[in-house]
Amino acid sequence: MGLFAKKRIIEKTEVDFKVPVSLGVIMDGNGRWAKQRNLPRSAGHRAGADNLKELCKNCGNLGVKYLTVYAFSTENWSRPSDEVETLMNLFVEYFGRYDSELEQEGIRVRFSGDIEALPERIREVCKVGEERSKNRQKMQLIVAFNYGGRRELVQACQSIAQDVVSGKITFSQIDEKLISSRMYLPDVPDPDLIIRPSGEKRLSNFLLWESAYSEFVTLDCLWPDFGMEELKQAILEYSGRDRRFGGLSINEKRGE
Ligand code: FPP
Repeated sequence: MGLFAKKRIIEKTEVDFKVPVSLGVIMDGNGRWAKQRNLPRSAGHRAGADNLKELCKNCGNLGVKYLTVYAFSTENWSRPSDEVETLMNLFVEYFGRYDSELEQEGIRVRFSGDIEALPERIREVCKVGEERSKNRQKMQLIVAFNYGGRRELVQACQSIAQDVVSGKITFSQIDEKLISSRMYLPDVPDPDLIIRPSGEKRLSNFLLWESAYSEFVTLDCLWPDFGMEELKQAILEYSGRDRRFGGLSINEKRGE
């Protein structure tokens, strides 16, 4: 009897598959993936970069419109210099090697972060990549590189303070809408869902302002092993969440 009742409950809780319009992914676990295979960390990052291409295809095919991935944080500079160099080189190589595939998939590429502070060769990749892909329509891939949520907020504050000092705006005009408009990519919708593989359960300075009402799903698999099955699993979990944005659920509003 117990078993039968349980099955009914599971059937009752079956949910529609709601694909997020805007998705964030923290690509974590490259180092552990490499360690499990007795490979250098650089091999994990390379496998991680290859997997990003798969994620783009899978998200585009499912109907995601904006995919933001955390590729290099403002804190990642504290890693050993050879690892930082690997990540920079991989970044340059990646867009040279994969841009034609991204083009075939209709994927526009944009970059978010303190791009001005990056070396010239990286800034050039960002400039060329954005320009070359600007008319692609299917999905936007936003690569957060030298990105930190706190730095984004500091830079937004500085830009607003400058406008107050110069008399362009008064301090009473500062509201949430204005702050949102000073984020790196204000036209990109806040993420509906943020996924973090590798079992860690924190945001690590990713999209601090934009994630106010994002759903958060963590999975145990490591980033290079995160495929379509894992993506669907995370979206299924998200689909079952009751997003109330601080208000009431539809059922509560109906008085049920
Ligand atoms: C975190 O895993 C991952 C990173 C700091 C880098 C993410 C970069 C990539 C997936 C590839 C580069 C991206 C582009 C766009 C070319 P970790 O190294 O901290 O893993 P660990 O926690 O297992 O050590």
